Amino acid sequence: MDVPSESIIILDFGSQYTQLIARRIRELNIYSAIMPYGIDAAELRRRQPSGLILSGGPSSVYGENAPHCDPAIFDLGIPVLGICYGLQLIAHNLNGRVEAGSKREFGQADLNVITSHALFRDLPDVQRVWMSHGDKVLSLPSGFSAVAATANAEFAAVADDARRLFGLQFHPEVVHTECGTAILRNYCVSICGCAQNWTMKSFVDHSVAEHRNRIGESKVILGLSGGVDSSVAAALLHKAIGDQLICVFVDNGLLRAGEVEVVIRFFEDAFSMKLHHVDAADRFLNKLEGVTDPETKRRIIGHEFIEVFEETARGYTGVTYLGQGTTYPDVIESVPIDGNPSALIKSHHNVGGLPEVMGLDLVEPIRSLFKDEVRAVGEELGLPHEMVMRQPFPGPGLAIRVIGAVTRERLAILRRADTIVLEEMKREDWYYKVWQSFAVLLPVQTVGVMGDERTYENVVALRIVESVDGMTADWTRLPYEILARISNRIINEVRGVNRVCYDISSKPPGTIEWE
Ligand code: XMP
Repeated sequence: MDVPSESIIILDFGSQYTQLIARRIRELNIYSAIMPYGIDAAELRRRQPSGLILSGGPSSVYGENAPHCDPAIFDLGIPVLGICYGLQLIAHNLNGRVEAGSKREFGQADLNVITSHALFRDLPDVQRVWMSHGDKVLSLPSGFSAVAATANAEFAAVADDARRLFGLQFHPEVVHTECGTAILRNYCVSICGCAQNWTMKSFVDHSVAEHRNRIGESKVILGLSGGVDSSVAAALLHKAIGDQLICVFVDNGLLRAGEVEVVIRFFEDAFSMKLHHVDAADRFLNKLEGVTDPETKRRIIGHEFIEVFEETARGYTGVTYLGQGTTYPDVIESVPIDGNPSALIKSHHNVGGLPEVMGLDLVEPIRSLFKDEVRAVGEELGLPHEMVMRQPFPGPGLAIRVIGAVTRERLAILRRADTIVLEEMKREDWYYKVWQSFAVLLPVQTVGVMGDERTYENVVALRIVESVDGMTADWTRLPYEILARISNRIINEVRGVNRVCYDISSKPPGTIEWE
């Protein structure tokens, strides 16, 4: 990744909060990037960040497999802030004493600032902080002094101003630390000298220039799904290289109602982009005939997509690059330590396998961005709000929401029900408040009565969830009146459905999609 010169590099020691540190710093309009803890000091010198942060982590510095950084990073002359495990590493490396975790400290504590220091500039002398640690610093390396303490931690904030090395025993990145963002700002601005000028506009300008330069006269082919990530990646590349970008939109027959028209309207009409629309519905649906196993469905759809995409790409000459809408959470290399949850790697990747199959170089213009930054870049590029705020939609589409065998008839039933869910959620202003809201068609028929007639029809389940990143989720406590209207409309308007259920499972143990 190309790192702008004014940046903070965070070395990841496996804390569940590492991404949060990066987020907080970016919210201060300062570029920050997460890197593996073991990165070479020489590599860091080459990158010339304005400052370093060592994240927390679940290990003890004395642990057999404890992650250690290159000790030479402390001699680079670049400011270093150690947070929690990061502080213990500093103490351990520079001949302080660290006590292995006999007693864990977890939760709120009152921090008392002992001496005036740049880290706490303009902040109150007593403030609430959030502690979560096992090991504890017992004595400081020479050159260091305590800046703040809590009842349980004599060295809650420490500094060696001459060498510009700093440490915090608490977590400034979590909201429970009341002045946390201000402490991070003091570090980045007052100590590291960052200018707070990283904005979405500067990102777009920088990225457009960089891609124009890199791609030159070549062509880029990109699979546009209509989702936020691929749409923003496409818009950004289009601004950089115009018609050298070929967007391939594969209609796999598993899309929501009206989706094809929406994508064409957004991209061809609004952006005058070259959009290659491939109608491959028959191919996908034929391959899926009679298939009921969820993983088999996913595999078939993934393979078929690669084939269709490859065939389309072969029709163009001079294509050197494959564009992808990979985002930051997809690429952060988490540290697999002690079964730590942040080490889980997302299983749903964009179009895994394509670059190898096609022998193209990858272009990933939004690789360094978090989801809300992707959205802000989309708005900056002029994509409609309606597009950049869309809910996620899975690659295998409605095939994993028609439970059991996928047929045209069942897809049509689901599309009608799904459209009603979407309309009502938007009408009631709930669509943008939740993570996802959709209908699932179950392979179950139940008895009902409509007019004077007995019916024996399908069941639709509603899945409406709240989530921050899709990794965990909870069902939305939607007002009963809205649930009632959605249910009434589906049963009255969608032929073939006589019952609607609401899914009240959280993730875990359930997943968001049913298959
Ligand atoms: P689950 O069902 O695993 O879903 O709780 C988590 C999030 O990922 C989406 N999802 C997918 N996205 N390809 C995708 O691009 C997939 O195969 C896929 N499966 C699930 C799901 O909609 C939810 O937002």
